[in-house]
Amino acid sequence: MKIREKGLPPKEIAQMLGRMLQDDLTFTSGRIVGSMCTEPARFARRLYSKYLEKNLGDPGLFPGTAKLEAECIAAIGNLLSHSNAAGSLVSGGTEANIMALWSAKKNKVERPEAIIPISAHHSFDKAADLLGVKMVKVPTDVMGRIDVKKVKSSITPNTIMMLGIAGTTDLGVIDPITELSEIAEANNIHLHVDASFGGFVIPFLRELRYDVEDFDFKLTGVSSISIDPHKMGMAPVPAGTILFRDIAMLERINIVADYLAGGEASKVTLLGTRPGTAAIVLWSMLNLFGMQGYRRIVKRCMNLTYLLYEESQRMNGVKPVQEPTMNILGLKPLRSSPQQVAKELRVKGWAVSAFPKHLRICVMPHVRKKHILEFAKALDLLEKTEKIIVRHGSSYRALADKAKMHKYQYSFL
Ligand SMILES: Cc1ncc(COP(=O)(O)O)c(C=O)c1O
Repeated sequence: MKIREKGLPPKEIAQMLGRMLQDDLTFTSGRIVGSMCTEPARFARRLYSKYLEKNLGDPGLFPGTAKLEAECIAAIGNLLSHSNAAGSLVSGGTEANIMALWSAKKNKVERPEAIIPISAHHSFDKAADLLGVKMVKVPTDVMGRIDVKKVKSSITPNTIMMLGIAGTTDLGVIDPITELSEIAEANNIHLHVDASFGGFVIPFLRELRYDVEDFDFKLTGVSSISIDPHKMGMAPVPAGTILFRDIAMLERINIVADYLAGGEASKVTLLGTRPGTAAIVLWSMLNLFGMQGYRRIVKRCMNLTYLLYEESQRMNGVKPVQEPTMNILGLKPLRSSPQQVAKELRVKGWAVSAFPKHLRICVMPHVRKKHILEFAKALDLLEKTEKIIVRHGSSYRALADKAKMHKYQYSFL
């Protein structure tokens, strides 16, 4: 498109948008079962547009908003066992992980390296490229957890950071952070914990008596943690947080902008202009849900995850990769590739994530019991059709594809 010479009336724009956004899926449909984000609370929607002009990149203009950001950091620090953590509200897990590596890199060595598991989110590849840090990727065990022995043997004088993940992107597993913490302390290395997904899950799992290991600042070797309110924290996008054990770790990456209205920015971030409304809405969500609300959400998501886990054990076409640790379930298709199954599910209106060896299902707060049962049925039906196709040859695939296009959904088979 080109910018028009003369603008359009809002009504016409709204109609155009309505048409153009028709293709988007919605969380309320319950059909998005592969995303780590969720439907924002109605209260969040209302608040978000009310405070659009707030800019945390110029906190001298908006000291009230800056105070709310500081309160969010304090509250999340307390959730992660540190009442005095330093940190900032950022755009998400990617920015938080970049900031952690940036800070760790200030421990100057000539050819810096970071030890990360192969399960690490691709934001670490971005961070490595940006910051010129070599990523030493170590394998994971059968449960998808980092191989601690390999971590130990990978340490060199160039190691500036080690990474443990509390809620891996592919399976939601938690690395043995206690052991990593001990190694980090013994070798004086910055240990970053990527709890972008798990940070708003694990503390409540423990309260719900799930058997989960320590992962946060309680472990003295943990230097920094990424935790995303826009995943399980019920905050709208964009809302990530980066927390450091010690304010010096944050301040060493501060670059002062002294032309701003309130002097220098009070928070250290990669971005300049930042949406203050994100802090305002996050602060409101923390107060709206409270510990009890988050606990209830995690409990419901876990119950539904286990429901799908049990359903999947009865199916012939998929196999659960392993028992879920949190509200993420890996399902391994037995007859076709995860990519093919994800494509077929998408034709039926379901959005899942396809990893090289499995499908990832995230049972987020917008997913209800009926969605889980409908999804299980869709997956099972797909498998039955697949069997017929395997038995009768590829012309059935063409017929099935045609039927799907017409939304007959296999009924002719
Ligand atoms: C473990 C983990 N870390 C970091 C990220 C990146 O988060 P964002 O997409 O908010 O940048 C993700 C996203 O899925 C993730 O799963």
